[in-house]
Amino acid sequence: MVSTDYALLRQQSRQMLEGEHHPLPALANQSALLYAALEDVNWAGFYLLGKDGSLLLGPFQGNPACMRIPIGRGACGRAAGENVVQLVSDVSQYPGYIACDSDTRSELVIPLCRQGRPIGVLDLDSPVAGRFTEEDAEELRRIMAEWETGIAWDEWTL
Ligand code: SME
Repeated sequence: MVSTDYALLRQQSRQMLEGEHHPLPALANQSALLYAALEDVNWAGFYLLGKDGSLLLGPFQGNPACMRIPIGRGACGRAAGENVVQLVSDVSQYPGYIACDSDTRSELVIPLCRQGRPIGVLDLDSPVAGRFTEEDAEELRRIMAEWETGIAWDEWTL
């Protein structure tokens, strides 16, 4: 069972937010932090809502990934469209799953909202089936809630 020091991760994440509020460098470093801190993760990054209403690939760590995802499609599109965390223990069983890396076995997607409206998602992939738990979802949701208010989202228009 993988165990993450979420108190430390929260602290590191807050320090990063104090240093920079622009979404581009802040999200780039946040994806690097998550990729380094979370065991058995092969992709960590963001998809952000673009002007045309689809999700655009944002800062990430891992292999090149699918660049545009319509709202409602795949785990990311559903998380953003329904504002519901997607905890996928076996991606082969997920209807409409969008495969970006054939190594990925499980996935966790956390929706990001601002003033009640979707702005994107945090997406984490793992080569291990069942890698993510309800605790991971809850702890990462907590961290992302601080990012929803701590980032100067208006400084970057997609
Ligand atoms: N699997 C995702 C697509 C993004 S990649 O995993 C990085 C999905 O179904 O939305």
